[in-house]
Order: sequence, then C-alpha cells, then structure tokens
Amino acid sequence: MEKQTKYIFKYIAADSPQIRKKLVGHQGMVVWLTGLSGAGKSTISFVLEKRLLETGCLAYCLDGDNLRFGINENLGFSEQDRSENVRRIAHIARLFKDACFIVIVACISPASHMRENAKAIIGTEGFLEVFVKADIKTCQQRDPKGLYKKVQNGEIKNFTGINMVYEEPAQSNIIVDTEKNQINECVGYLFSEITKRIDWTDDK
Ligand code: ADX
Repeated sequence: MEKQTKYIFKYIAADSPQIRKKLVGHQGMVVWLTGLSGAGKSTISFVLEKRLLETGCLAYCLDGDNLRFGINENLGFSEQDRSENVRRIAHIARLFKDACFIVIVACISPASHMRENAKAIIGTEGFLEVFVKADIKTCQQRDPKGLYKKVQNGEIKNFTGINMVYEEPAQSNIIVDTEKNQINECVGYLFSEITKRIDWTDDK
C-alpha cells in the first residue's frame, strides 16, 4: 500500500488560513538546507533567520543538531535513524509552513530518498532545496565541533562523508558554495532568492 504523506487538513472555521496569512503577512515556505557537517548549514540558517525577521518575515530555524536534543533524542546515525530523523523534521516543517512560517531547515539529510520523502511530506509548492556546498576536505579542516578529529581517532562511526555516503543533490533549486563565498554573501544570495518567492498578502 502506498504510504500516505499528505495531510488532510480539516478546518472547522474554513477561513482561518486566510485570517492567519493576513495576520502574518505572508504564506509559509520551507527552505531545506542539505550538505555535509561543517559545510555551514547552521551558521547560514541562523544568520538568514535574523535577516528575514528584521525584514518582517516570520522565520524560524529547525536545526538538526538542536532537534536531536529533544524530539529526535532517541535517534542515532544509522541509515534507518537518519531516515526517521528527516521524516520527523519534514512533518514539523510542514506544520510550521501551514502556520505561515518561513521555515529554514538545517539538516544533513544525506540520501536523496530522504530528501525526496521530505519533499513529498511538505509538498513541492513553497519548498526550496538548497545545497550548501563544501567538499569533505574543507569540512575536515574547519572541523567546528571537533567531530572529524574524533572520527579520525575512531571515536565516531558512520560519519557522513567519511564512512557513510553523502549523496550530492543532482538538482537543487539553489546552490550556495561556502568554499568560494563568504557566509554573508551566501546569506545575501539566499535572502534575495527567498524574498522574491514569498507569497505576500495583498495589503502588505
Ligand atoms: S542527518 O544525517 O540525520 O540528517 P542531522 O543533520 O540531524 O543528520 O545531524 C547532523 C549533526 O550531528 C552533525 O552536524 C554533527 O554535529 C552531529 N553528528 C554526530 N554524529 C554524526 C555522524 N555520525 N554523522 C554526521 N553527523 C553527526
């Protein structure tokens, strides 16, 4: 049986979505950042979130690392757990999107089937996949959390890009290359790509 990924929203007060959109000023949207650990996803997300908030957009970050402290605390880094991690994040993002948030997801989401599932859950409308590009050598050199060193010492197994595959997206909507560009440049570019896609209310 085909898996049901779509929500069937039932509103008793049918015009609530319109009232909410007017209140917030825009429709919801999901910006899904994928890339290796150390590529810059979280940094970009939080700078981007602030920039969007300052311009009147109701933005919110869903960061893979943070969610693993709570809703995903029972998950590890096996293929199966990562799929479940991505599935849960996609469902949370879907709900935030419905609540008119500009959701910025920062999550490795290493396999294309995981990202496809996320897209199926969220829906292609108002979904933007962003590949945060930096090669494994660069990420190893940056090693912001000291994790690559731990991998080298054999303390961490199944690390993305080292002993577990990262499938580069073949056709992301947007690519930001953090090797060639500064974080502020990447954020600036993303900001302009996002704001031109936002579905604003007419009176905004
Ligand atoms: S995902 O693969 O399931 O999408 P997620 O984005 O939630 O990963 O979490 C990745 C973060 O977990 C990394 O940025 C890193 O801080 C931490 N981490 C710990 N162990 C691993 C590992 N084996 N592989 C990748 N990241 C890990």
